[in-house]
Order: sequence, then C-alpha cells, then structure tokens
Amino acid sequence: MGRDLRNLLINRILERELRRSVAAHLSGRLIDIGCGSKPYREMVAPYVREHVGVDHEGTAHDRSRVDLWGTAYSIPAADASFDSALCTAVLEHLEEPELAIRECHRVLRPGGSALYTVPFIWHLHEEPRDFFRYSKYGLHHLFEKVGFEIVELKALSGFWVTFGQLLVYNLYRFNRGPLRWLRLVDATGLALQGSFYVLDRLDRTEQWTWMYLVVARKPASLTVESGREVS
Ligand SMILES: C[S@@+](CC[C@H](N)C(=O)[O-])C[C@H]1O[C@@H](n2cnc3c(N)ncnc32)[C@H](O)[C@@H]1O
Repeated sequence: MGRDLRNLLINRILERELRRSVAAHLSGRLIDIGCGSKPYREMVAPYVREHVGVDHEGTAHDRSRVDLWGTAYSIPAADASFDSALCTAVLEHLEEPELAIRECHRVLRPGGSALYTVPFIWHLHEEPRDFFRYSKYGLHHLFEKVGFEIVELKALSGFWVTFGQLLVYNLYRFNRGPLRWLRLVDATGLALQGSFYVLDRLDRTEQWTWMYLVVARKPASLTVESGREVS
C-alpha cells in the first residue's frame, strides 16, 4: 500500500520528533502500551533490548504483533520490570487516563522514561472509543499526580498545520468520481500541506497544536519497600 497522501505532513513532523525523542530517552526493555501494529518497531529497534507490545482483546487493530494481552489499566507484568515505555495515540481512547498513567508508572523501574503522543485538536476517530483531548496543563496535572516528572512536553504544530490538516481531511470526503479520477483532491491536499507547513514556520501559535509529545520520568529516588513505593 502506498503512503497516505492525506497526512504526509503531520506524519513527517511526528516521525521526526519521535525519532529524536526515542534516541534520547528509550532504552533497555520497552513496553509499548496500546501497541496496535507496533508502527515504530524499526525506529526503536537500535535503542532497546526488547520491545514488548501490550493491547486489549477488543482491539480493532492488527493483532499479530501484540505480545501481551491485557489493558492499559492492567498490564500483565511485574512492578518495575521495564526500563522505558512508549504509548502513542492511545490516551485519548482510554476512559480512565489517570489509571493508565499510574499503571505505566508501576511497570517502569525508578529512573525509567515514558514517551507519549497525545492529541489536543483532532476530529473524532475510532468511535465510539474516543474519549478525551488533552491540554498541556491537563497533561502536567495527570503525569505529576501519579508521580512522574515531566522531562519534555512539546507542541508539535501551531495553528496553520492543525487547521490545514483538518481542512485536507475534510476535503477528502469529496474524493470520489471525477475528482478522484483526476487526482484533484490529492493535488490540492499536497499543495495545502506544503503551504501550511511554511505558514506554520512563519507564524507559530502553539495554543492550536494538533498534538503533544510528552516525555515523563519516574524519579530515580523511588525505592520499593514491602510492596510500597517511598521516595
Ligand atoms: C490509535 S491506536 C494507536 C496504536 C499505536 N500505538 C500507534 O501509534 O499506531 C490506539 C490503540 O490503543 C489500543 N487501546 C484502546 N483501548 C485500550 C485499552 N483499554 N488498553 C490497551 N490498549 C487499548 C487500541 O487497541 C489501539 O491499538
């Protein structure tokens, strides 16, 4: 299957930022929470010793790469058994995000890092399992509440890329008949993505980001005493 022309721009931005962050923060045993088809397996491979994917039984995604069946709230793994965690485009699909972040904190060793991507402005998708959008303040609140330190919280676009992407997706609703045959929507979509990328570089307003990238660390000073974590 060819590349999806509808979202070339945001996929490039996402991939570039993930690559940078994966190299800087992921290592050792990695748990990929809500792994789906493990789309980043090749990206993480040079940095991690083991890449363990967990997903839930009801997933609508490719099941062939799932290593552990569980849920984001209950990962079948011991406390502190992973060095790092990856959780991309999952938090908005969880009814109880705090419980899920707490569970990620549980399976990470002290000093371990978690890398999340979380949308802020995005259309409904994977309905009806689409529950929340997150602001940077909400993310700080949730991660710090369960004991993580935020290492990085980065907006991946400004208004123009977000607006342009939503416009292009909407245009694709009309991609049928002669428009499809003449590839007019493809051509318009690509031109719009290029133009909005330039605009976003000239005028960056991150209050309108489509997505955040979050790197959180479980403090290294945590030790486990008779099943209870103390700092
Ligand atoms: C949009 S997909 C993202 C998949 C993959 N992480 C990626 O970046 O392509 C959302 C994923 O979250 C998983 N998911 C949804 N609810 C879940 C839950 N309660 N526990 C674990 N995984 C869940 C879905 O099965 C799906 O694989």
